[in-house]
Amino acid sequence: MKGFARITGTGSYLPDKVLTNKDLEAMVETTDQWIRERTGIVKRHIAVDGQTTCDLAEQAARRAIEAAGRTPQDIDLIVLATTTPDKIFPSTACLLQQRLDIHGCAAFDVQAVCTGFIYALAVAEKFVKTGAAKCALVIGAETFSRVIDWTDRGTCVLFGDGAGAVVLEASDSPGILSTHLHADGAYETLLHTPGGVSRGYDIQDAGGDPRFTQMKGNEVFKMAVNTLGRIVDETLQANDMKKSDVDWLVPHQANIRIINATARKLSMSMDKVVVTVDQHGNTSAASVPLALDTAVRDGRIQPGEVLLLEAFGGGFTWGSVLLKF
Ligand code: UT7
Repeated sequence: MKGFARITGTGSYLPDKVLTNKDLEAMVETTDQWIRERTGIVKRHIAVDGQTTCDLAEQAARRAIEAAGRTPQDIDLIVLATTTPDKIFPSTACLLQQRLDIHGCAAFDVQAVCTGFIYALAVAEKFVKTGAAKCALVIGAETFSRVIDWTDRGTCVLFGDGAGAVVLEASDSPGILSTHLHADGAYETLLHTPGGVSRGYDIQDAGGDPRFTQMKGNEVFKMAVNTLGRIVDETLQANDMKKSDVDWLVPHQANIRIINATARKLSMSMDKVVVTVDQHGNTSAASVPLALDTAVRDGRIQPGEVLLLEAFGGGFTWGSVLLKF
């Protein structure tokens, strides 16, 4: 058994259709200036009718597998993070497995909203580290636009669709150094969709259409900044590392002001922080692997560098992964 899990390939995919801040000006009472100043977002990509989470995941997965120099037949575990699955069941991981013509290996979804990819990577790492899998495909994929009320300016300007993926392989050397997962369900209603499969959609006092995302943005913002500051400390302490040992921060892409605050906490200059929120907004579970793949493909992130991945989202859930690339 090799004892470590290392990322050997990354991939990502954004649907072709683009929705700009200008487009949103025609839909709700907002301005390009407000969106840029308060969030850093310039545009987001939206899946067209009929284009599903699995469609986006497949493109990202194929790119990651190719980058790893593998074929789909090498994959022996699929862990897919999403809040917007194609179907109630089977899982989107099983749908993706079929698309990739892989048969027999374990495949399952993880649901931790914006922290989904961090959760999925942490879970897959345990399989690979213990020898239960050798070559895992880990994906974050969302069509979050489908759970957005496009008349609510407080949320509709923030979110977008996309997918990111990594191949995680058994290795003699690290690899993933540590993973840190947390949740506190007490914050349920600060960021949620009130309706659901079991609860139904006929809900009194839903405070809006129960199918769609509701967020108390300002309260979520403050919690995100404080919590991400704490998880940075926890991660460095667990590895007996200093802030200066981290080469790259790869944060969840929700709001540039949250990213700036975490970078300040790490005393990190912004040119060591991967920022893609301007290009695709908040893509929930897809955001961290989208940012990671962008900086790997443009040559910023180099083999051997230390990366801190972190995210915060509905639940609340939050977590981090420290790794040597
Ligand atoms: O990924 C999971 C976690 N999610 C997040 O991390 C999101 C966290 N929250 C945020 O990013 C920010 O709170 C928002 C971007 C959602 C909002 O920014 P804010 O600085 O917290 O603004 P606010 O909610 O305090 O609203 C300020 C003003 C309000 O007007 P008044 O009451 O001051 O007159 C809002 O009604 O901005 C108004 N506003 C808007 N104006 C133009 C809210 N949304 C918009 C909008 N366009 N789209």
